[in-house]
Amino acid sequence: MTAVGIDAVEIWTGNLKLDLPGTFAAEKGEDPEKYTKGLGLNASSFPDSYEDIVTMGANAAHRLMERKGLEPDDIGRIDVATESAFDNSKPVSTYVAGCLEQVYDGDFHHANKGERKFACIAGTQSLDDACNWIRAGRNRGRSALVIATDTALYARGDAGEATQGAGAVAMLISEDPSLVELSTEQGYGSADETDFLKPNQQFPSVDGKRSVQVYLARMREALEDFESVAGEVHEDDFVYAPFHTPFPGMVRKAALLAFRHVIRDTPTEDELAEEIGRQPRPEAFDSDEEYRDALREYMDALKDTDRYAEWYDATIDPTLTISRNVGNWYTGSVHVARASALKHALEAGRDLTGEKLLVGSYGSGAQAEIHAETIQDGWEAEIEALNVDEQLDNRYEMTWEDYEEIHDVHNHEMDVDVEEFTTPSEEFVFDGWGRMGERKYRYVE
Ligand code: CAA
Repeated sequence: MTAVGIDAVEIWTGNLKLDLPGTFAAEKGEDPEKYTKGLGLNASSFPDSYEDIVTMGANAAHRLMERKGLEPDDIGRIDVATESAFDNSKPVSTYVAGCLEQVYDGDFHHANKGERKFACIAGTQSLDDACNWIRAGRNRGRSALVIATDTALYARGDAGEATQGAGAVAMLISEDPSLVELSTEQGYGSADETDFLKPNQQFPSVDGKRSVQVYLARMREALEDFESVAGEVHEDDFVYAPFHTPFPGMVRKAALLAFRHVIRDTPTEDELAEEIGRQPRPEAFDSDEEYRDALREYMDALKDTDRYAEWYDATIDPTLTISRNVGNWYTGSVHVARASALKHALEAGRDLTGEKLLVGSYGSGAQAEIHAETIQDGWEAEIEALNVDEQLDNRYEMTWEDYEEIHDVHNHEMDVDVEEFTTPSEEFVFDGWGRMGERKYRYVE
């Protein structure tokens, strides 16, 4: 079977930055280490007043098309994944195509466009749809553009406010990809859950603590389901494991569970047994409560072993570097985690061609998906082309008052006008409303 996967990726961050330990924690009267150590976050990205999910998505896609020398005729499909949509009928992909048609001679009339919704997992679902479209031979030699774009804003005062973020990831999906090939094996963990939802409202209703437990439960199911089709996963099978990252502390919890799972009944468990004992098995306990207590104790001890710390530092920590500085990008977060890991490898001069990633996506409501990816021999050039550091450095750092204003600007219930904090250059910007309530955009040279 021909290899299908991600040929190229581009990241577009919102142009504003909120310092969490410095500005946010100070205003809330909280210990800055709750953010840096507890949640694992330093800063969030925010959209300036002229930015939204369309501008960020179109800007990421434009940069990607320019870099790859593509014209509209090369793209047969545009899928946008978002949980920040502002229209219940007209998909964001039509707006993105409209933006791109302003700067290219051709058009996208031939391209199939859509919008995917399943909370944060929709980005991966769109990726999957695009791969299947190519594998089915329906692409007529064209590639697919998958864009994950979100303004992950919470209501002011919500516990999730600290985990906000805004940005887009554009991915080009092709045959014989340069970056990663996706496995056809996938595992799912899916259940009707009420952990995070937006019933006809902009900001989410969140049961934060429960959402953490649901993430872990669905991810565990997905891993077991993946193993049922791809075979057992072992700790050294994958160079990195990029997971959906609502905040790095969440991935830290998932990683410990995953490590416990993959070392069970292996020589690693035997070796560690000398130090911390063997993993508790339910049949050895009289009650579920006793078993859970023993499990908690084992996990605490496992977390402190050198073996786990080394695995975590090598396999997980590099996936979190960008996220620490941008917050949650919902549909884009797992794709940011992949880019973060590969960027780390590039900077360390590692040769990763042929190595594998274990990719774990999650969407509240709730569903997790796990698949493997094989790194392709063009990965270094693709990752080298990212200018994410420059983008992050160029963000305008907001004061608390700026933040309050910008949150109001993006609140659909409010009609607030503020001066932009940054000056757009070579990017699409929001340009007001049309006669039917549609949003208008223009390209700024
Ligand atoms: N120093 C070090 N660590 C500290 C600290 C300090 N001074 N103060 C607190 N901490 C630690 C806490 O111990 C905690 O870590 P553990 O969970 O490992 O114990 C961590 O910092 C966070 O502290 P709290 O639990 O007290 O924080 P909170 O209650 O204010 O909010 C949250 C946490 C509920 C997750 C909240 O951020 C939230 O609601 N977020 C939105 C929902 C979310 O992201 N859920 C994740 C799973 S759902 C998902 O993935 C989909 C999605 O994208 C939304």
